[in-house]
Amino acid sequence: MKLLQVLNGKAVWPPPVWLMRQAGRYLPEYKATRAKAGDFISLCLNPVLATEVTLQPIRKFGFDAAILFSDILILPMALGQELRFAEGEGPRLPPLSSLSGLSLEKAPGIYAAVMQTVANLRAALPPETALIGFAGGPATVACYMLDGQGGGDFPRTRRLAYENPGFVTDLLDMLTEATIAYLQAQVDAGADCLMLFESWAGIFPAAQFRNLVIAPNRRIVAALKARNQDIKIIGFPRLAGLMLGEYVRETGIDAVGLDTVTDITQAIQACPPNTIFQGNLDPLLLRLGGPAMEHAVRRLLASVQGRPHIFNLGHGITPDVPEQNVARLMEIIREN
Ligand code: CP3
Repeated sequence: MKLLQVLNGKAVWPPPVWLMRQAGRYLPEYKATRAKAGDFISLCLNPVLATEVTLQPIRKFGFDAAILFSDILILPMALGQELRFAEGEGPRLPPLSSLSGLSLEKAPGIYAAVMQTVANLRAALPPETALIGFAGGPATVACYMLDGQGGGDFPRTRRLAYENPGFVTDLLDMLTEATIAYLQAQVDAGADCLMLFESWAGIFPAAQFRNLVIAPNRRIVAALKARNQDIKIIGFPRLAGLMLGEYVRETGIDAVGLDTVTDITQAIQACPPNTIFQGNLDPLLLRLGGPAMEHAVRRLLASVQGRPHIFNLGHGITPDVPEQNVARLMEIIREN
């Protein structure tokens, strides 16, 4: 598996490639399968159909890795918080004001469905395709649990972090333990490596970034590595800015996802030597295609030549991406 070779520090060329949200609405076959499931959450919790949508982009484009089809908000749902996705509006949860009533045993069926999908996937994927298990980073998941929705800068979470830090820390402790158990179960079910999506890391000031992002991520990495000698974990502290180097150093993560705004050359300088990067092509270029995309892809490839690197976007694919641009992206990378 090229992806695991890179995560073990080998400079594989051309680099392995996968795309965040590679299973999604830009693919007509995804939309058809989602319609069959009824809605997005039912799709996540249906092991047969979730396996099918994970495999669709692998069959079509031959990515080097498949990512479990699920969502970072399935964990709060398994803990007992209500979750719905309003059509075209994103996730909605009742904003949390106490931890009572939340527990890992709340909805074991949800857990079991996800693990069944992981097991189906490892059995169905070609041996050269790595299976990535994932969870949201505790801070990012807490943002949705406390604010009940995304779309802004999570104002309730931001206030609570100052006004009721004990509550926020208790929630993060609970999420950290739940995330360790959830990711361990994915490893046991067959995930080859893991990714932690800390998509909203960048909304916190430095001191809170250390307590709410770095400390929980470090605990998760340490716990999983203590139990699974060779497990590799990719962190994605989106919009971490100048905190990126500290994040990589302090968490012990094996590779780090770069958002769109980060200059990869500066990231190389800010992080420990031999840090492995993933990303950071602007998803808008994948929508636009043509010379703008080709130029940026070649420039990104040139800047990582000779390094262990995982080709990816700086954030997820948007539903308006034409499929032929994804096919062209793969050609450019593979003709290198
Ligand atoms: O292909 C993959 O990348 C794997 C599956 C995956 C999804 N979400 C599927 C999904 C993964 C890894 C995620 C992670 C996720 N979910 C994150 C972290 C990464 C990021 O994007 O920052 C976050 C913040 C969420 C929460 C979430 N889920 C939001 C805010 C939304 C609504 C936005 C949107 O695109 O509609 C979702 C919905 C979602 N998750 C979809 C998919 C394919 C679209 C649902 C649909 O089919 O209507």
